[in-house]
Amino acid sequence: MIEIMSPSQVARARDTGALVADVLQAARERATVGTNLLEIDTWAEEMILGAGATSCYVDYAPSFGRGPFGHYICTSVNDGVLHGLPRDYALADGDLLTLDLAVVLGGVAADSAISFLVGQSRPAESVALIEVTERALAAAIDTAGPGVRLGDISATIGSVLTGAGYPVNTEFGGHGIGSTMHQDPHVPNAGRAGKGPKLRPGLMLAIEPWVMVDTDELVTDEDGWTLRSATGCRTAHSEHTIAVTEDGVEVLTLPSKR
Ligand code: MF3
Ligand code: CO
Repeated sequence: MIEIMSPSQVARARDTGALVADVLQAARERATVGTNLLEIDTWAEEMILGAGATSCYVDYAPSFGRGPFGHYICTSVNDGVLHGLPRDYALADGDLLTLDLAVVLGGVAADSAISFLVGQSRPAESVALIEVTERALAAAIDTAGPGVRLGDISATIGSVLTGAGYPVNTEFGGHGIGSTMHQDPHVPNAGRAGKGPKLRPGLMLAIEPWVMVDTDELVTDEDGWTLRSATGCRTAHSEHTIAVTEDGVEVLTLPSKR
């Protein structure tokens, strides 16, 4: 079912989105060489609970994971791209870290992910990978609006990724979001323009291009959650939650002014 949010729900989603963005931003600023992934999870826990929000992850037990996730944030490193289960690992200089976070506040969910390099080194391949996911996300947001078809968004993402020479995997992608995190419709990261349902004001979508350097195949880590590139190559992921408005879209997962 596709959920259409009321104007007051979209207004509340701004607060949810700001909290998600603030947690990601704070973690990005604090994470450095030697930071343990479990510490990042604790920072997220403190900020989420401190704001009176509920994690979408702790009790989440979908078919694509093993049992309840049991943590507050996804921490995926290097070849880890999606659903990275926080583990006892200290970050090293040049690690490519992806953080993905979703919470509910005021009855409305928001979901966002960022990828960035830890420490000082800036390996060119990783910089390019992060840049292409951010560019695909920005292009998809530019495309979205009332009357636009879902396939237009997928096609936009796919053409940016493919145009930059990356393989595209469509098993996992974006999704509708509203009172809960994962809703219809699925938003594949490739597709055909002009196809699919038309977007309407009040629809909220999590748009999330992700990419792997040289493969479109995923493998599941022995932790039962973390999805890694099948070849061990590096990966990146960028995600925002947006709301379709009467005349365009609003990005909800932007940091509050600090
Ligand atoms: N937030 C992720 C997404 O973008 C889903 C993570 S589910 C988890 O859709 F259980 F792994 F946390
Ligand atoms: Co998502």
